[in-house]
Amino acid sequence: MLKENTAVVTGGSRGIGKAIAVKLAELGANVAVIATHDGEQARDTIKTIEDMGRKAGLYVCDISDIKAVNDAVSQIITDFGGVDILINNAGITKDKLLMQMTEDDISSVIDVNLKGCMYVTKACLRNFIRKRRGRIVNISSVVGLMGNAGQANYSASKAGIVGFTKSVAREYASKGITCNAIAPGFICTDMTGSMPKEAVEAMLDNIPCKRYGKPEEVAELAAFLVQDCASYITGEVIKIDGGMYI
Ligand code: NAI
Repeated sequence: MLKENTAVVTGGSRGIGKAIAVKLAELGANVAVIATHDGEQARDTIKTIEDMGRKAGLYVCDISDIKAVNDAVSQIITDFGGVDILINNAGITKDKLLMQMTEDDISSVIDVNLKGCMYVTKACLRNFIRKRRGRIVNISSVVGLMGNAGQANYSASKAGIVGFTKSVAREYASKGITCNAIAPGFICTDMTGSMPKEAVEAMLDNIPCKRYGKPEEVAELAAFLVQDCASYITGEVIKIDGGMYI
């Protein structure tokens, strides 16, 4: 299915990124993980993939640094012989009401979530064009579509990803490259684990499915979008949110 494919997964050391990296490996892909730290979580992801008999590599890189991104992607292409799939998953939150947000709260979230996604995509494009094939999946969020109090910076970054996804889809569809976005609702990960308990519980009232999502469920959708069966889907934003935003 994904045999002889190389996937790059940003933020693949934990949470949704890890679930996607492992799922793609399960389908036969070799996986290059981009993460900010060479920590235990990142090493555990690499080991899990290698134990499945796939090639895996960890590339420590801050995706908001364009030079670091270009260097990491060049190294991945050298080490793996090319890239077939890019999952732009890395993201951060700095939640506050807009009145209280500092310049850093705004710029760091836009730099990582939106500019980082653009930098990594740009770095992979020449390789995709040469192969006349590429699959790009960007992880947005339902709050990029509906907005959320306390997340003006984050929502703007995730809405930006939607416009970026549609533009890249239009620019490169004729080159065999698809670009889609996934907009998850509330998924149980370290990111949501740091939210106040009351806020998390209150969220359930707004989820018709009456449960939170799992990283593995997002991974199934990402895996579908990168396979040949999805080659006629591009420029789409697919929600996976238990009905949170209908
Ligand atoms: P997480 O916090 O568990 O993992 C984020 C990953 O991104 C980590 O591996 C981290 O090292 C990496 N990362 C952060 N900044 C980076 C940088 N500057 N350079 C390289 N890597 C960096 O988050 P989670 O929950 O797994 O989220 C993954 C993606 O899904 C994020 O983009 C998030 O915004 C999005 N998302 C998550 C939802 C949720 O409910 N958990 C809902 C909607 C979207």
